[in-house]
Amino acid sequence: MKIETFEMERWQSQWENVVEYNLAESGVDPLTVEELLGGPEAVQELGRRQMLYNQGNGTPELRDRIAGIYPGAKRENVLVTHGTCEANYLATWRLVEPGDEVVVMLPNYMQIPGLARGFGARVTAFHLREDRDWAPDLDELNRAVTPRTKLIAVCNPNNPTGGVLSESAMSEIVSVAERAGAWLLADEVYQGAERSGETTPSFWGRYEKVIVNNGLSKAYGLPGLRIGWTVAPPDLIFELWSYKDYTTIASSVLSDLLARRALEPAMRARIFDRTRSILRRNYPLLEDWIKGHGADFSLVPPAAGAIAYLRYRHNVNSSELMKRCISEESLLIVPGDHFGMDGFIRLNYGVPPDHMHAGLDRLDRVLRTVEKVLGARG
Ligand SMILES: Cc1ncc(COP(=O)(O)O)c(C=O)c1O
Repeated sequence: MKIETFEMERWQSQWENVVEYNLAESGVDPLTVEELLGGPEAVQELGRRQMLYNQGNGTPELRDRIAGIYPGAKRENVLVTHGTCEANYLATWRLVEPGDEVVVMLPNYMQIPGLARGFGARVTAFHLREDRDWAPDLDELNRAVTPRTKLIAVCNPNNPTGGVLSESAMSEIVSVAERAGAWLLADEVYQGAERSGETTPSFWGRYEKVIVNNGLSKAYGLPGLRIGWTVAPPDLIFELWSYKDYTTIASSVLSDLLARRALEPAMRARIFDRTRSILRRNYPLLEDWIKGHGADFSLVPPAAGAIAYLRYRHNVNSSELMKRCISEESLLIVPGDHFGMDGFIRLNYGVPPDHMHAGLDRLDRVLRTVEKVLGARG
């Protein structure tokens, strides 16, 4: 099977560990193993672990911890996956047949639309509208969903906009899914990374055909663990587990253990506090930088995630601009083109402040060159 290129992940995979300044991430500066475990003795203890195959669907202890986050969920409702990306992959692979209709929220982390097209679906969209502070166009959703819709995929909080759905938008999305009898897949990986401190409510429990995917890469600052999960009805979870036999079999024993630590309730609260304090510390720096550029940039303030989806007014294509950032300044930022939206860039503000300042200075230098060379001012 041929599959379209997942532009943003290709971009990250190729460059994130090569450039000097990476402002293309969407999470916060990651924790160390020692910070997570609480000291060198615990790290030594980790060194004595035998490198077994882990329990395929995740240890019962980890599944219990995850289930504890979702009211009414039990261990049987949970499958531990290799990051949220595997959770999205397994659900899409299991549910989407050639000819199915799939409706996705756009813009979006583009994994599910790309996969669904690869599996032969007809993919249509409903959009988040910039002029409504990234609230969804629910009329468009209603028009897109038909009795043949198999799956509706949303991302809340949203990547790349950082927008969070209102309670009424969530209810309407659930009603539309229910009317069509479609599965509703909610990627909630940015839950817990809200600047306000108010945790975004989950879609879990709002309808019997809801699938919630999440993981430790963003709000928890633990992308290197590669731990994600699906919460869904037990029958579906059991099937998804059998699909996982074909992908990664099991997560690493070490990651399972560290994930259990991260999800201890007190630790989880501490990690969310850390994430939010990074966001609150850095957001004003970004705001100042934007103010310093007058009308050249505009931003609907993101509610969650360490991402700012900036509209720029320079008359230059976003991929071209971002390629110049790599080649001229060893700086990585995501172009709006990767979300099908030229004229935007997605900037990470979850990094240490000196890194952020240096990265933004480099972006300024590229913008000045572009203005000089291309006369690129909109
Ligand atoms: C919405 C969304 N889902 C899933 C992922 C992949 O996350 P993970 O590292 O948990 O696989 C990302 C990464 O950027 C994302 O933005």
